[in-house]
Amino acid sequence: MVTKVLMVCLGNICRSPLAEGILKSKVNSNTIFVDSAGTGGYHIGNKPDTRSIAIANKYAININDQRCRKFETQDFDEFDIIYVMDKSNYTNVISKSRNSKDAAKVKLILDEVTLDINEVPDPYYGNEDGFDNVFHLIDKACEVIAKKLNTK
Ligand code: 4NP
Repeated sequence: MVTKVLMVCLGNICRSPLAEGILKSKVNSNTIFVDSAGTGGYHIGNKPDTRSIAIANKYAININDQRCRKFETQDFDEFDIIYVMDKSNYTNVISKSRNSKDAAKVKLILDEVTLDINEVPDPYYGNEDGFDNVFHLIDKACEVIAKKLNTK
């Protein structure tokens, strides 16, 4: 059986495309399907932010072919686990849930690791350093997620 994981942020151009690319790089694509979406829908059809593409490239991950899409209620039917980057994303996704089964699929990605923060900061209005920080936070979480999924 294929486990389906959805990574969600606000714009689906900075953080969740990185989360999609990083998790894909760590899991068996025959058994784990990974996608990403945004709750905002401001950039539908666009490529990830050039700064996300660049930081992914730096670590040999290609996210160039991803295109932005909006999170939809049907994603609760499609996906087994929905990882959100911050609490605002959590509230936005939960507001679209129809029942407790939907809501139980939604988790803060950094709750998978023990760090002093539990939200991936939005790097959109910051500089390149923000993207490096975001990459490493997501990478740490995806390492744990991949171990769990690969041994399922
Ligand atoms: P993301 O970052 O949620 O990590 O993709 C953002 C990208 C764009 C916007 C906000 C956050 N925006 O307002 O356009």
